[in-house]
Amino acid sequence: MENRQLGEYSEMVHAQAELWNLTVGYLKSMSLRCALDLGIPDAINNYGQPMTLSQIQSTLSLPSTKKPHLHRLLCMLTHIGFLHEQGVSIGTEVGIHTLVDVGGGTGALAKAIIHNFPHVECTVLELPHVIQSISNDGPVNFASGDMFNFIPPADVVILKWILHDWCDEDCIKILRRCKEAISSRETGGRVIIIENVIGSTLSKTCQEAQLLTDMLMLTMFTGAERDEHEWQKLFTDAGFGSYQITHTIGFNSVIEIYP
Ligand SMILES: C[S@@+](CC[C@H](N)C(=O)[O-])C[C@H]1O[C@@H](n2cnc3c(N)ncnc32)[C@H](O)[C@@H]1O
Repeated sequence: MENRQLGEYSEMVHAQAELWNLTVGYLKSMSLRCALDLGIPDAINNYGQPMTLSQIQSTLSLPSTKKPHLHRLLCMLTHIGFLHEQGVSIGTEVGIHTLVDVGGGTGALAKAIIHNFPHVECTVLELPHVIQSISNDGPVNFASGDMFNFIPPADVVILKWILHDWCDEDCIKILRRCKEAISSRETGGRVIIIENVIGSTLSKTCQEAQLLTDMLMLTMFTGAERDEHEWQKLFTDAGFGSYQITHTIGFNSVIEIYP
């Protein structure tokens, strides 16, 4: 990419992050409200010195099902400056002929791929009610089905903004179906995941976009935004051999996982 194009692209993805932050910015005030309802400021104030996550956890009367999520709320509160952190860590493909975009909606990504790589046959797998609403008059194939049951065979399977909606157990089920669908590593077989990797960006705007998305997952779905360690565990548990992460200048990363 030339410098001028890179500059324009960088501006575009940062604008995307800012737009996203404005859209779901209400989650910041919800996080503050939640912190007050849980008594987090009082707990820290009464303790009188910095607390670890497990100390905060044991001080608050949280139901056991909610305890594993506390650190995600604390990340958000730290990001917006409500808490302070003290050392808490919080291409052109050769040999690819077929591709399935799982949960690919109306096929926007598949169309963009065909535009750039016309030799690649692209299929979108979607739920039946989504397929029924699509007028299929373009180059994309649409398959009706459920990713938990079966994913049509292809060299490459793409999951863009899918796994963060789901808990680890469901992600492992989806990833296993993907592994069954892709061709061998020698022939280019891989799964490409486009998602956030928490900790991947130094940009405050992009960090905020990632943390706000995590709040959205926490409040509306069973999923989560994941850091590299959490992603790696999913890949191992689903039986994949290796992975490679390419961080972009936006708030999403491209993760390729190999059988
Ligand atoms: C967050 S959207 C992501 C859409 C698209 N990949 C994108 O990047 O804009 C999740 C998509 O997954 C689809 N989906 C949900 N459950 C599914 C399932 N069991 N099988 C196939 N698709 C599913 C939904 O219909 C929805 O279009």
